[in-house]
Amino acid sequence: MFAVVLIVGFAASATLAKAQDASGVPHLRRQGTATQLIVDGKPYLAMAGELSNNAATSLENMDTIWPKLVAANLNTALIGVSWAQFEPEEGKFNFTQVDGVIARARENNMHVIFIWFASWKNGTSSFAPYWVKKDYERFPRIQIGEGKTVSISGPVELLSTLGTATRDADARAFGVLMKHIGEVDSARHTVLMIQVENEVGVLRDTRDRSPAANKAFSGPVPAELMQYLEGHKDSLIPEFRAVWKENGYKQSGTWEEVFGPGKPANMEIPIQTTSPPMSALEHQNSWQQLHWASDEIFMAWNYARYVEKVVEAGKAAYNIPMFVNGWLQQPNHAWPGTYPSGGPLPQVHDVWRAGAPSVDILAPDLYLEYFDDVCERFTRNGNPLFIPETSTNPANAVVAVGKYNTIGFSPFGIDGNRPIGADLAATYGLLEQLSPMILARQGTDAVTAVRLNPGDASKNVKLGNYTLTLTYTGRTTRLPPQPRGQVVGSPPPPGTGGNPNEAPPEAAAVLISTGPDEYYFGGAGGAMRVDFTANTPGPANVGLGDVQEGKFADGKWVVTRQLAGDDDAQGEILVLRPNTILRVTLYRYP
Ligand code: DGJ
Repeated sequence: MFAVVLIVGFAASATLAKAQDASGVPHLRRQGTATQLIVDGKPYLAMAGELSNNAATSLENMDTIWPKLVAANLNTALIGVSWAQFEPEEGKFNFTQVDGVIARARENNMHVIFIWFASWKNGTSSFAPYWVKKDYERFPRIQIGEGKTVSISGPVELLSTLGTATRDADARAFGVLMKHIGEVDSARHTVLMIQVENEVGVLRDTRDRSPAANKAFSGPVPAELMQYLEGHKDSLIPEFRAVWKENGYKQSGTWEEVFGPGKPANMEIPIQTTSPPMSALEHQNSWQQLHWASDEIFMAWNYARYVEKVVEAGKAAYNIPMFVNGWLQQPNHAWPGTYPSGGPLPQVHDVWRAGAPSVDILAPDLYLEYFDDVCERFTRNGNPLFIPETSTNPANAVVAVGKYNTIGFSPFGIDGNRPIGADLAATYGLLEQLSPMILARQGTDAVTAVRLNPGDASKNVKLGNYTLTLTYTGRTTRLPPQPRGQVVGSPPPPGTGGNPNEAPPEAAAVLISTGPDEYYFGGAGGAMRVDFTANTPGPANVGLGDVQEGKFADGKWVVTRQLAGDDDAQGEILVLRPNTILRVTLYRYP
């Protein structure tokens, strides 16, 4: 019986996948360990950027921005839609901005991911329409306790998750928006995905303390959440499960009975609490000891339930992938309320999954130095990675794509405060060329990426039939060959174009195995040397059989230089330079 159900289930999902692919409408599809965004039936890599919040509130302003995005090799822009501008009067909708953005995106051969700036943006509610803001009885605000975080004072103008009229108004408007997008775009697929709200969560206290919230907090944990936790007990995020375990794995009870004590209303939370600052992994390991977990879990559940209703309304009108984004814990912010409490952070991913099953991706706004650790935390339990906000470091783009299978990479404020530099534009150009090869292999062992900083030890990566040893060589310039066994590189000799006074750049490479003895490598940031050790039986030594520098034009490999002699140290040393693609064929000899 079980087998029959399983087979029927697989058949139904295969049929659905086929129908989705045939329609071309954007959707997500699993490939190995990766989840890919499929557009027009093919996997899509979003080399994106997010505009400043109000860039698209004026189409004239946007006209000056599109050419910059195209010049910087972006294929996708994340663009805000303000609820206030979309529904200036209750029930009256204005489609001018959305239509204008879609039309201009098409003219510029770009795709768009809209951000629904509605009930919340950075925790607060500044994009809610005037008719919502002024009616604080119909659309209630949260309340915080006396012991609010230091350094910020005054009232909190933040819509409450428990305002059902607010939720329904937001959902209705979002449904209208998605219906319209479906009408104008379901045949063209310019709009790829939607971010719903922005960095939700309670600020300045650990939870909402309005009478409605206090009542819910002292009541039982909803049965839907308890059932989800029971059903996923073995695969829950470890730091979350530890909290439940510590409190006796109770199957029912109030929030404090099941998840431990919340913060007393009048207890103050200092804004800066950990010294020295903590890394992502330290936050992960200490979350259950340091935090008033029940407050954060309670808020996560309430935001998730609210957002679920909004997403459901949108998907019922036009079903494309939808995600939420999280304002991350900063290194010195240990307590919820210093970061938005209840946002989709890794420690409460299970609560979001239980409360908002229609949300496809829980995404990080990733400005932190420990980029890779955050990618690890956001890819647990199969959460697809998409990075809607980040800085412009090209090495991060390469690592996110090659190692963490991201659906897209998107520096924030590309029209202004974080303009796209030539280095990121070049990396996007390189990734664009390699993307068919990368996307065909994402989620398998045939593609990865490596990051090297000045001073790092060499890194070994097993890929295909060889182990690659990657060694940082620093500068981006062409370097003369060095004797065998010696690392080529820094500092560059005079006349080679490098500036020895500049800080050596971080290097990253995407590494693709395309055959038993063949690789393609793409470099960003700085240069690295690549050595090979064979992992299969046969002669011990590995030779550089054929080294080509080149590019993909219309999907075809075009050799721009054949490298031997001085350019690979007489066949003995391979150096991958930034903004360069190499095709390397190896051979073995005794
Ligand atoms: C994070 C927010 O999500 C963005 O909308 C923007 O306000 C940036 N911070 C500003 O750096």
